[in-house]
Amino acid sequence: MALPLRPEPVESVLPCNFAALAGDRRSVRAFQDRPLPAGTLERLLQLARRAPSGANLQPGRFIQIEGGIRGRLSSALVEACRDGRQEPEDYGYFPQPMPMSLRRRQVAAAQALYRAVGVAREDRAGRDRQFERNFFFFDAPVALIVTIDREFGAGGYMDLGMTLYGLMLAAQAEGLASCGIGALASYPGLIRRTLGLGERDCIVCGMAIGYADPQAPVNETVTTRCELDEYFTRLR
Ligand SMILES: Cc1cc2nc3c(=O)[nH]c(=O)nc-3n(C[C@H](O)[C@H](O)[C@H](O)COP(=O)(O)O)c2cc1C
Repeated sequence: MALPLRPEPVESVLPCNFAALAGDRRSVRAFQDRPLPAGTLERLLQLARRAPSGANLQPGRFIQIEGGIRGRLSSALVEACRDGRQEPEDYGYFPQPMPMSLRRRQVAAAQALYRAVGVAREDRAGRDRQFERNFFFFDAPVALIVTIDREFGAGGYMDLGMTLYGLMLAAQAEGLASCGIGALASYPGLIRRTLGLGERDCIVCGMAIGYADPQAPVNETVTTRCELDEYFTRLR
């Protein structure tokens, strides 16, 4: 069913404006053991899918995994990671090699995360423990696998990224929180096999959605952004 252009306001939507919505959103990596009300995920996805896309192609699929299949996938991912298994990824996420200027941002984000959970730089086991949380979708009530058809190039990924952000903000607007899980893109073959997906389904990332656990130290992770003049230029 097509979504009307201006969906009726949803009762549970918290009062917010865009500056507050975008300004307050953060990646959340610990959730309450509390399910989403029935129909919430579907509504969030329909709102996210209002994102624009080139020629309105609307690339990308969202697969919610639950119960046994979710458990099997988490176990298989942890096992592959502990075995040090490596697979070719479906797409290149990060620049290879990573230039020093970007590496600094990556390190700062990692430091913010490990500082919040009290893991020291030299504590390899502690970092591995936190990394493995990715494979459990941080125990969020909603675990999504995001795929895109192999025929899409950079434009399709760009469009899908808008939908992903729309989904994060739609969740935030309803008092929910989320975290993208790019770590899953390291095991595309394993994910396809476990979920019975086809070779055309490229594994883009995962996403965790739920109610943030306000007590969890990991949710105190705060990242910064570079200054405007580093990414904005005005030419006359
Ligand atoms: C597509 C995508 C994939 C991500 N993958 C991971 C991940 O695998 N593990 C993780 O802990 N955070 C992941 N993140 C969260 C980023 O680390 C986070 O967005 C970034 O550090 C900025 O912090 P903020 O979201 O709290 O503003 C991902 C974010 C996006 C958008």
